[in-house]
Amino acid sequence: MSAPVLALDDVSIRYPGAPAAAVRNVSFEIGTGETLGIVGESGSGKSTLAAAMMGLLPSGSTVTGGLRFEGRDLFGQMTERELRQLRGRDIATIAQDPFTALNPVMKIGRQLDIFQHWYHDRPRAERKARILKMLEQVRLSDPGVRMQQYPHQLSGGILQRVSIAAALLAEPKLLIADEPTTALDATTEAQILGIMAEAKETLRGATVFITHDMSVVERLCDRIAVLYAGELVETGTVAEVLKDPRHPYTKALLECDPARIEEPTSELPTIGGTVPALDDRPAGCIFEPRCPSAVAHCRAEAPKRHDLGPRQSAACHLVTP
Ligand SMILES: Nc1ncnc2c1ncn2[C@@H]1O[C@H](COP(=O)(O)OP(=O)(O)O)[C@@H](O)[C@H]1O
Ligand code: SF4
Ligand SMILES: [Mg+2]
Repeated sequence: MSAPVLALDDVSIRYPGAPAAAVRNVSFEIGTGETLGIVGESGSGKSTLAAAMMGLLPSGSTVTGGLRFEGRDLFGQMTERELRQLRGRDIATIAQDPFTALNPVMKIGRQLDIFQHWYHDRPRAERKARILKMLEQVRLSDPGVRMQQYPHQLSGGILQRVSIAAALLAEPKLLIADEPTTALDATTEAQILGIMAEAKETLRGATVFITHDMSVVERLCDRIAVLYAGELVETGTVAEVLKDPRHPYTKALLECDPARIEEPTSELPTIGGTVPALDDRPAGCIFEPRCPSAVAHCRAEAPKRHDLGPRQSAACHLVTP
C-alpha cells in the first residue's frame, strides 16, 4: 500500500455524557486508490467513525489514540479552521440523506461549481462542461435542466446522484460514503451502486464505504473492516475475508447476506439478539452474548487481536494464525 491517507491508531471515541465509548481501540489504515468497506449492524459505531474522520464529532466528545490525515493528527494537531479547510477541500462525503449535503436555496449547477475547487481558475465554460460531463457520468437525464433546479425540485435518488457528482468533482483525497443508499428504494439503490462502481475507476484518492451489506463490500471495496459494538473484530482484504471469514460475527453477517443464500426462503436468517447499548456492553468478549461459538473463557476475558497475515487480523479466542 502507498503511504496512508488516513491512519487510525488505537482510536477510542466517547460522546459527552455517554456511559461508555462508542468506538474502542480501533486501528486501520487507508491508502491512496484504496476503498475500505466498514461493515456492521446499526449501533456498531460506523457513523461515529465517519464523523471522527471528518473532525465533526459533537463538542465535548473524547478521542484517544491517533487519527491522522496525511500524517497530521485531526484531534491533536489541527485547529478548527484547518479542519474546516480539510473538509472543504480534501475530504468529501456522500451522506445517507443527500438533502443534508446540499444547500436548499442554491441552484444545483452553482453548488456543483463550488465543489470543483481545483478548477476555479479555469474559464467558466470549461467548468460548466466538466459539470455537465459529470452529471452524465452519474446518469442524470437532462443535465442542463438539472443545473438550473433547486434541491427541493429533485427526488431523493436524483439528489443522491447529484451529491455523488459533487464528491467526484471535488477530487478529494478522502471520500467517505456513509450508507448512501439506505434511504432509497431497491431499483434506485442498484443504479446508485452501479454508478459508485464506475466512479471507483475515476477516484484517485482513498475511499471509505460504510454499509451493513456484505454484497456491497464485495462489489465496491478492496479491504474490509468489520465493526461490532464499537470494536474492530476483523479486518483484511475483501478477497480473503469473504472467502475465509475468521471471526464468528463476520461469519454470521455473511450467513445473513441474501446474495449468498443458495435457496432463498421467505424468511431471511438473522443474527439472534441485538447490538448491546452503550450502557450494556458485556465484560469479556463483546460478541459473547450472541456468539454461537462462545466458550466459558469468552465471558471472562476480552480476546486480543491476532494477526492472520500482513494486513489481516481478527479478535477472537478461537482464532489462531
Ligand atoms: N451524538 C451521540 N451522542 C451519544 N451517543 C451517540 C451519538 N451518536 C451515536 N451514539 C451512540 O453511539 C453508538 C454508535 O452509533 P453509530 O456510530 O451511529 O453506529 P452505526 O452508524 O454503526 O449505526 C450507538 O450506541 C449510538 O446510540
Ligand atoms: S472470543 Fe468467544 S465469544 Fe468472542 S467471538 Fe470468539 S468465540 Fe465468540
Ligand atoms: Mg450510521
